[in-house]
Amino acid sequence: MNPPFLTTSHGALFATDCLEALRAMHSGVVDTVFADPPFNIGKDYKNGYNDRVAQSDYLSWCREWIEECCRVIKPGGAFFLYATPELAVRFAPMLGEHLDFRHWIAVTMKGTFPRGRKLYPAHYALLYYTRGIPRVFNKLRLPIETCRHCGKEIRDYGGHRDKMNPEGVNLSDVWTDTSPNRHRKFKVRPGVNELKLVIPERAILISTEPGDLVFDPFGGGGSTYQAAEKHRRNWIGTELYDAAHIQKRLEEEFCFSAAQELGFDFSELFTHENHQDQVLRRIQGEGLSARTGLRLSGASGRSPFHGGPCARRKAGEPARRRAATN
Ligand SMILES: C[S@@+](CC[C@H](N)C(=O)[O-])C[C@H]1O[C@@H](n2cnc3c(N)ncnc32)[C@H](O)[C@@H]1O
Repeated sequence: MNPPFLTTSHGALFATDCLEALRAMHSGVVDTVFADPPFNIGKDYKNGYNDRVAQSDYLSWCREWIEECCRVIKPGGAFFLYATPELAVRFAPMLGEHLDFRHWIAVTMKGTFPRGRKLYPAHYALLYYTRGIPRVFNKLRLPIETCRHCGKEIRDYGGHRDKMNPEGVNLSDVWTDTSPNRHRKFKVRPGVNELKLVIPERAILISTEPGDLVFDPFGGGGSTYQAAEKHRRNWIGTELYDAAHIQKRLEEEFCFSAAQELGFDFSELFTHENHQDQVLRRIQGEGLSARTGLRLSGASGRSPFHGGPCARRKAGEPARRRAATN
């Protein structure tokens, strides 16, 4: 594996093919995978990616990365896979060979139109699987809905409003409060279907605790990494085509204020030609962190680029751009 394109205090982004990174990863090291793949619908990603190949080639490629993702998930870990319903029905059996079904979350989609003799498509699927019983399942709540004009509550909850949890209602498996795509004017990269932050954010909050490790094989505009960074989850990402946009987004959002030390040793996630036995022996000898399975704050995997443009920056000084090396 080449060194990462960028590191923050919580994550490492590799400008590489996700399959290359996945094949180099040890089994059972990731707490949650969040994947939002290209859908093979001929979308122009404006980065050279060819989003229209024979459907059989596309599905065999998907099988490969899905199986690799399943392999790297820890017992109790989770896999969230975002797809159109047509693809989700193909992906579900692939996931089901390795993991256990939890939910088909319907994420409402706005601004579409019916094609041919079909119903109006109004949702994407967010498949949620786990390896056995989930190790973490945080119940999220949504604020009680109010009218955006008058501010009054919309529903009376069958007269049981007074018995309701003041923190709001339980999150269901139908997410109507977000349309999937980020509005064009907020996108970091033209052409990419960037998800609204809340989608990977919820997946991460449901299935991980701070310090856990999230992996997203398809970086795109970097939504998952932003969500992980925001909630202090460690993360690993890959983006084959233009990781620079992700770097820009993370720099803008976090200014790398906390990035002076990479918070975990990502190199321990990967197999190393010639050194694999040595690394395994060392891990066994030193013991694993009970929560993450990672040896924390070791120096050997630290990227030469750790510490961001804001690290060691004096107040008022302009941010330095980190040089990309691969
Ligand atoms: C739908 S976008 C992901 C959007 C992302 N979830 C977000 O919200 O910003 C899919 C991304 O996968 C990238 N990609 C395609 N093939 C890849 C591969 N083999 N390895 C890594 N990234 C790949 C594309 O360049 C594209 O940016």
